[in-house]
Amino acid sequence: MKNFWKNKKVLITGHTGFKGSWMTLILTKLGAKIYGYALNPISKPNFFDGLNLSQYLKMDVRANIQDIKKLKKTVQKIKPSIVFHMAAQSSVLVSYNNPSDTVKTNILGTTNILEAIKECKSVKSAIMVTTDKVYLNLEKKKKFKETDHLGGHDIYSGSKASCEVMANSYINSFFLKNSNCKIATVRSGNCIGGGDWTKDRIIKDCAESLIFNKSIIIRSPKASRPWQHVMEPIFGYLILAKNLYHGKKYTGAWNFGPNFRNNMKVIDVVKFGKKFLNSSSKIKFTKQKYYESQHLSLDSSKTLSKLKWKTQLNPREALKLSFIWYKFFYKNKNKKKLLDLTFKQILDYKRKYIN
Ligand SMILES: NC(=O)c1ccc[n+]([C@@H]2O[C@H](COP(=O)([O-])OP(=O)(O)OC[C@H]3O[C@@H](n4cnc5c(N)ncnc54)[C@H](O)[C@@H]3O)[C@@H](O)[C@H]2O)c1
Repeated sequence: MKNFWKNKKVLITGHTGFKGSWMTLILTKLGAKIYGYALNPISKPNFFDGLNLSQYLKMDVRANIQDIKKLKKTVQKIKPSIVFHMAAQSSVLVSYNNPSDTVKTNILGTTNILEAIKECKSVKSAIMVTTDKVYLNLEKKKKFKETDHLGGHDIYSGSKASCEVMANSYINSFFLKNSNCKIATVRSGNCIGGGDWTKDRIIKDCAESLIFNKSIIIRSPKASRPWQHVMEPIFGYLILAKNLYHGKKYTGAWNFGPNFRNNMKVIDVVKFGKKFLNSSSKIKFTKQKYYESQHLSLDSSKTLSKLKWKTQLNPREALKLSFIWYKFFYKNKNKKKLLDLTFKQILDYKRKYIN
């Protein structure tokens, strides 16, 4: 990783979101020239605008990924070397209420960025971020490999599985021969970490309730999830992007999941948080309105063997980093110090686990 990122022109779509914000801060520490293309953030509070992360960008474009003209013009103007496509309607629940926009943003958005990259000769490596929900999940507690069948029970998952198919079609049609650009898709599970206020994400709801000793209401208490800190896949995407930049053999799909035995049930996460934050919150349960997979885990052995990447933090360590962040946010309210805390979490992780 050393020096590779220094002064590299990197375009992040979806930079104003949860993962985009963390990627912006990580790339800042690596010395990259960062450009962003996304809509204004909708969550309140918001990590990106709240901490004024725009200060770390060379260009901060707020526009719709569905607007192919604007997107192509922006990409041509920036001439990035590397692209991370993360702009998406990222919520399963929202996808039930707004299926049409989810499909347009996720599927059309992905083909739009692929078109823009196709026409921009400066791009040497590009990563399309999808999700672990792209697999056909028959709830058999299996670990999904990159070669397993794609599926999608809900609109969000289906739209992301479609992104995988489209990315693969684009790779085969335009990026294998006569192109300097190598493309990969990446699938990771539910990420946690400070700064996520997206609807229906349990950790921020859980942290907020526990910190203020309010009752905490959970659905699917027995659902088992891989609680992976957001820094883990982000550093993984960076390792992959660097390898893609140098060679074709990294083209294709990659899982960035934690170990199966690292899964933890929602109820155990809440109990752990309650103890860690010394909270007197009561735990209540509610019925799950929509289908939500109960078991989802990835087999990331390809990523381990070919990229030497693996999840480093166990779920408790990942949860601690997240709870510490939210506690600081709610109790301290000093933006500069919160930024310092975030950079410290990044640098500690990098020093320990990234060469
Ligand atoms: N956070 C997770 O746990 C998780 C897990 C697996 C995959 N993912 C995927 O990672 C990516 C980033 O997720 P996130 O958690 O940061 O999501 P997020 O909702 O926090 O951020 C989404 C970003 O996309 C932008 N965006 C949404 N619609 C847009 C549009 N029409 N035009 C332009 N920009 C638009 C938003 O402005 C924001 O910057 C997404 O593709 C998501 O599906 C996230």
